[in-house]
Amino acid sequence: MRTPIIAGNWKMYKTPREAVSFVEELKKAVADVQGVEILVCPTFLALLPLSVILEGSNIRLGAQNMFWAAEGAYTGEVSAEMLRESGCTYVILGHSERRQYFGETDANVAKKARAALDNGLVPIICVGESIDERKTGRTATVIERQVHGSLAGLAADEVTGLVVAYEPVWAIGTGLTASPGDAQEVNALIRRLIGELYDRGTAASVRIQYGGSVKPGNAAELMSQPDIDGALVGGASLKTADFAGIIKATVETLNPPQ
Ligand code: PGA
Repeated sequence: MRTPIIAGNWKMYKTPREAVSFVEELKKAVADVQGVEILVCPTFLALLPLSVILEGSNIRLGAQNMFWAAEGAYTGEVSAEMLRESGCTYVILGHSERRQYFGETDANVAKKARAALDNGLVPIICVGESIDERKTGRTATVIERQVHGSLAGLAADEVTGLVVAYEPVWAIGTGLTASPGDAQEVNALIRRLIGELYDRGTAASVRIQYGGSVKPGNAAELMSQPDIDGALVGGASLKTADFAGIIKATVETLNPPQ
Protein backbone atom coordinates (compact mmCIF):
# COMPACT_ATOMS: atom_id res chain seq x y z
CA MET A 1 0.00 0.00 0.00
CA ARG A 2 1.55 3.31 -1.08
CA THR A 3 0.85 6.26 1.21
CA PRO A 4 -0.06 9.26 -0.95
CA ILE A 5 2.13 12.30 -0.52
CA ILE A 6 0.81 15.83 -1.00
CA ALA A 7 3.71 18.24 -1.30
CA GLY A 8 3.63 22.02 -1.48
CA ASN A 9 6.34 23.49 -3.70
CA TRP A 10 6.39 27.14 -2.68
CA LYS A 11 9.01 28.10 -5.28
CA MET A 12 10.32 31.65 -4.66
CA TYR A 13 7.22 32.70 -2.73
CA LYS A 14 6.83 33.43 0.99
CA THR A 15 9.54 35.08 3.02
CA PRO A 16 10.77 33.23 6.11
CA ARG A 17 8.33 35.22 8.28
CA GLU A 18 5.40 34.50 5.97
CA ALA A 19 6.39 30.84 5.93
CA VAL A 20 6.27 30.70 9.72
CA SER A 21 2.77 32.15 9.99
CA PHE A 22 1.56 29.94 7.13
CA VAL A 23 2.64 26.67 8.76
CA GLU A 24 1.21 27.72 12.09
CA GLU A 25 -2.18 27.94 10.37
CA LEU A 26 -1.65 24.82 8.27
CA LYS A 27 -0.71 22.76 11.31
CA LYS A 28 -4.13 23.45 12.82
CA ALA A 29 -5.99 22.90 9.54
CA VAL A 30 -4.53 19.41 8.98
CA ALA A 31 -3.94 18.27 12.56
CA ASP A 32 -6.39 15.36 12.27
CA VAL A 33 -5.23 14.14 8.84
CA GLN A 34 -4.06 10.54 8.72
CA GLY A 35 -3.06 8.23 5.90
CA VAL A 36 -1.64 11.00 3.71
CA GLU A 37 1.87 12.33 4.01
CA ILE A 38 2.00 16.15 4.02
CA LEU A 39 5.09 18.04 2.96
CA VAL A 40 5.99 21.70 2.52
CA CYS A 41 9.02 22.87 0.55
CA PRO A 42 9.77 26.51 1.43
CA THR A 43 12.73 28.73 0.66
CA PHE A 44 15.99 27.40 2.13
CA LEU A 45 15.93 30.34 4.55
CA ALA A 46 12.75 29.14 6.23
CA LEU A 47 13.79 25.51 6.71
CA LEU A 48 15.37 25.78 10.14
CA PRO A 49 12.65 27.91 11.77
CA LEU A 50 9.95 25.71 10.24
CA SER A 51 11.64 22.55 11.48
CA VAL A 52 11.22 23.83 15.04
CA ILE A 53 7.54 24.68 14.56
CA LEU A 54 6.75 21.42 12.77
CA GLU A 55 8.47 19.11 15.24
CA GLY A 56 6.03 16.44 16.37
CA SER A 57 3.44 17.47 13.76
CA ASN A 58 2.21 15.53 10.71
CA ILE A 59 3.83 18.00 8.28
CA ARG A 60 7.26 17.25 6.89
CA LEU A 61 9.83 19.55 5.41
CA GLY A 62 11.53 19.42 2.04
CA ALA A 63 13.87 21.60 0.01
CA GLN A 64 13.39 22.65 -3.60
CA ASN A 65 16.93 21.92 -4.77
CA MET A 66 20.45 21.08 -3.57
CA PHE A 67 23.95 20.54 -4.92
CA TRP A 68 25.56 17.11 -5.19
CA ALA A 69 28.98 17.81 -3.62
CA ALA A 70 29.40 17.12 0.09
CA GLU A 71 31.09 20.48 0.64
CA GLY A 72 33.56 22.78 -1.10
CA ALA A 73 34.08 26.02 -2.95
CA TYR A 74 30.64 26.19 -4.61
CA THR A 75 29.43 29.70 -3.96
CA GLY A 76 25.70 29.92 -3.45
CA GLU A 77 25.06 26.19 -3.22
CA VAL A 78 23.53 24.08 -0.45
CA SER A 79 24.49 20.49 0.39
CA ALA A 80 22.37 17.50 1.33
CA GLU A 81 23.91 17.43 4.80
CA MET A 82 22.96 21.09 5.33
CA LEU A 83 19.38 20.22 4.39
CA ARG A 84 19.29 17.25 6.75
CA GLU A 85 20.58 19.37 9.57
CA SER A 86 17.92 22.00 8.80
CA GLY A 87 15.14 19.46 9.31
CA CYS A 88 14.48 18.27 5.75
CA THR A 89 13.42 14.75 4.96
CA TYR A 90 12.72 15.36 1.26
CA VAL A 91 14.28 17.30 -1.59
CA ILE A 92 12.70 18.16 -4.95
CA LEU A 93 15.13 17.47 -7.80
CA GLY A 94 14.97 18.32 -11.49
CA HIS A 95 11.87 20.52 -11.34
CA SER A 96 11.12 21.83 -14.84
CA GLU A 97 11.89 25.38 -13.70
CA ARG A 98 15.37 24.22 -12.64
CA ARG A 99 15.77 22.47 -15.98
CA GLN A 100 14.49 25.49 -17.93
CA TYR A 101 16.14 28.42 -16.13
CA PHE A 102 19.18 26.85 -14.47
CA GLY A 103 20.33 24.36 -17.05
CA GLU A 104 19.68 21.28 -14.95
CA THR A 105 20.07 18.01 -16.86
CA ASP A 106 19.12 14.40 -16.17
CA ALA A 107 22.79 13.71 -15.39
CA ASN A 108 22.80 16.50 -12.77
CA VAL A 109 19.60 15.14 -11.28
CA ALA A 110 21.12 11.64 -11.00
CA LYS A 111 24.17 13.03 -9.16
CA LYS A 112 21.94 15.02 -6.82
CA ALA A 113 19.73 11.98 -6.18
CA ARG A 114 22.83 9.95 -5.29
CA ALA A 115 23.98 12.61 -2.80
CA ALA A 116 20.48 13.03 -1.34
CA LEU A 117 20.11 9.29 -0.70
CA ASP A 118 23.62 9.06 0.77
CA ASN A 119 22.55 11.70 3.30
CA GLY A 120 19.21 10.17 4.22
CA LEU A 121 17.03 12.52 2.15
CA VAL A 122 14.21 11.25 -0.04
CA PRO A 123 14.45 12.70 -3.56
CA ILE A 124 11.30 13.78 -5.39
CA ILE A 125 12.43 13.47 -8.98
CA CYS A 126 10.44 15.57 -11.45
CA VAL A 127 9.87 14.62 -15.06
CA GLY A 128 7.50 15.95 -17.70
CA GLU A 129 7.12 16.90 -21.33
CA SER A 130 6.71 20.35 -22.88
CA ILE A 131 3.63 21.31 -24.90
CA ASP A 132 5.64 20.97 -28.08
CA GLU A 133 6.77 17.48 -27.15
CA ARG A 134 3.19 16.45 -26.34
CA LYS A 135 1.78 17.90 -29.56
CA THR A 136 4.35 16.09 -31.66
CA GLY A 137 3.74 12.74 -29.97
CA ARG A 138 7.05 12.62 -28.11
CA THR A 139 5.72 12.41 -24.53
CA ALA A 140 6.66 8.77 -23.96
CA THR A 141 10.14 9.21 -25.45
CA VAL A 142 10.86 12.27 -23.30
CA ILE A 143 9.58 10.60 -20.12
CA GLU A 144 11.65 7.49 -20.85
CA ARG A 145 14.80 9.55 -21.38
CA GLN A 146 14.21 11.54 -18.18
CA VAL A 147 13.40 8.48 -16.05
CA HIS A 148 16.44 6.55 -17.32
CA GLY A 149 18.77 9.54 -17.01
CA SER A 150 17.58 10.77 -13.62
CA LEU A 151 17.67 7.36 -11.94
CA ALA A 152 21.05 6.37 -13.45
CA GLY A 153 23.23 4.60 -10.92
CA LEU A 154 20.53 4.12 -8.28
CA ALA A 155 19.88 0.65 -6.85
CA ALA A 156 16.45 -0.99 -6.65
CA ASP A 157 16.18 -0.62 -2.86
CA GLU A 158 16.92 3.10 -3.23
CA VAL A 159 14.33 3.64 -5.94
CA THR A 160 11.73 1.77 -3.86
CA GLY A 161 11.71 4.56 -1.31
CA LEU A 162 11.85 7.59 -3.55
CA VAL A 163 9.18 9.70 -5.17
CA VAL A 164 8.79 10.57 -8.84
CA ALA A 165 6.62 13.53 -9.82
CA TYR A 166 5.08 13.63 -13.27
CA GLU A 167 4.63 17.29 -14.09
CA PRO A 168 3.73 18.14 -17.67
CA VAL A 169 5.47 21.47 -18.22
CA TRP A 170 2.43 22.91 -20.01
CA ALA A 171 0.27 22.32 -16.92
CA ILE A 172 2.54 24.06 -14.41
CA GLY A 173 1.19 27.39 -13.25
CA THR A 174 -1.05 27.67 -16.31
CA GLY A 175 -4.38 26.56 -14.90
CA LEU A 176 -4.35 23.75 -17.48
CA THR A 177 -4.44 20.34 -15.85
CA ALA A 178 -3.73 17.04 -17.54
CA SER A 179 -6.96 15.07 -17.68
CA PRO A 180 -7.05 12.35 -15.03
CA GLY A 181 -6.82 9.79 -17.85
CA ASP A 182 -3.76 11.43 -19.47
CA ALA A 183 -2.03 11.83 -16.10
CA GLN A 184 -2.78 8.20 -15.21
CA GLU A 185 -1.39 7.06 -18.56
CA VAL A 186 1.97 8.76 -18.02
CA ASN A 187 2.17 7.74 -14.35
CA ALA A 188 1.53 4.13 -15.42
CA LEU A 189 4.25 4.50 -18.06
CA ILE A 190 6.72 5.72 -15.41
CA ARG A 191 5.85 2.73 -13.22
CA ARG A 192 6.30 0.38 -16.17
CA LEU A 193 9.69 1.92 -17.00
CA ILE A 194 10.83 1.47 -13.39
CA GLY A 195 9.64 -2.14 -13.53
CA GLU A 196 11.76 -2.69 -16.65
CA LEU A 197 14.81 -0.95 -15.17
CA TYR A 198 14.51 -2.72 -11.80
CA ASP A 199 11.79 -5.22 -10.93
CA ARG A 200 8.07 -5.48 -10.24
CA GLY A 201 8.41 -4.98 -6.51
CA THR A 202 10.28 -1.72 -6.97
CA ALA A 203 7.72 -0.50 -9.49
CA ALA A 204 4.88 -1.40 -7.13
CA SER A 205 6.46 0.47 -4.20
CA VAL A 206 7.71 3.70 -5.77
CA ARG A 207 5.34 6.62 -5.26
CA ILE A 208 4.50 8.66 -8.35
CA GLN A 209 2.87 12.06 -7.91
CA TYR A 210 1.10 14.21 -10.44
CA GLY A 211 1.79 17.96 -10.55
CA GLY A 212 0.47 20.81 -12.66
CA SER A 213 -2.41 23.08 -11.62
CA VAL A 214 -3.73 20.71 -8.96
CA LYS A 215 -6.54 22.42 -7.02
CA PRO A 216 -9.12 21.36 -4.43
CA GLY A 217 -11.67 20.99 -7.24
CA ASN A 218 -9.68 18.55 -9.40
CA ALA A 219 -7.68 16.72 -6.72
CA ALA A 220 -10.16 13.92 -5.97
CA GLU A 221 -10.45 12.78 -9.57
CA LEU A 222 -6.68 12.87 -10.10
CA MET A 223 -5.93 11.12 -6.79
CA SER A 224 -8.39 8.34 -7.50
CA GLN A 225 -6.31 7.15 -10.47
CA PRO A 226 -4.55 3.88 -9.65
CA ASP A 227 -1.00 5.07 -10.45
CA ILE A 228 -1.25 8.58 -8.97
CA ASP A 229 0.11 8.56 -5.42
CA GLY A 230 -0.26 12.19 -4.46
CA ALA A 231 0.41 15.64 -5.84
CA LEU A 232 3.18 18.18 -6.15
CA VAL A 233 1.33 21.45 -5.76
CA GLY A 234 2.63 24.91 -6.63
CA GLY A 235 0.15 27.81 -6.69
CA ALA A 236 -2.56 26.12 -4.62
CA SER A 237 -0.07 25.25 -1.86
CA LEU A 238 0.35 28.94 -1.02
CA LYS A 239 -3.12 29.28 0.52
CA THR A 240 -4.02 27.29 3.60
CA ALA A 241 -7.59 26.64 2.53
CA ASP A 242 -6.58 25.40 -0.94
CA PHE A 243 -3.71 23.23 0.25
CA ALA A 244 -5.77 21.76 3.10
CA GLY A 245 -8.62 21.26 0.60
CA ILE A 246 -6.36 19.16 -1.66
CA ILE A 247 -5.17 17.13 1.34
CA LYS A 248 -8.73 16.52 2.51
CA ALA A 249 -9.90 15.57 -0.98
CA THR A 250 -7.09 12.98 -1.04
CA VAL A 251 -8.08 11.58 2.35
CA GLU A 252 -11.70 11.29 1.17
CA THR A 253 -10.60 9.56 -2.02
CA LEU A 254 -8.88 6.92 0.10
CA ASN A 255 -11.80 6.53 2.50
CA PRO A 256 -14.93 7.51 0.59
CA PRO A 257 -17.86 8.37 2.90
CA GLN A 258 -20.15 5.33 3.22
P1 PGA B 1 1.33 24.54 -10.08
O1 PGA B 1 2.88 24.12 -9.92
O2 PGA B 1 0.55 23.71 -9.09
O3 PGA B 1 1.30 26.01 -9.74
O4 PGA B 1 0.94 24.26 -11.47
C1 PGA B 1 3.26 22.79 -9.76
C2 PGA B 1 4.77 22.70 -9.62
O5 PGA B 1 5.48 23.45 -10.27
O6 PGA B 1 5.30 21.85 -8.86
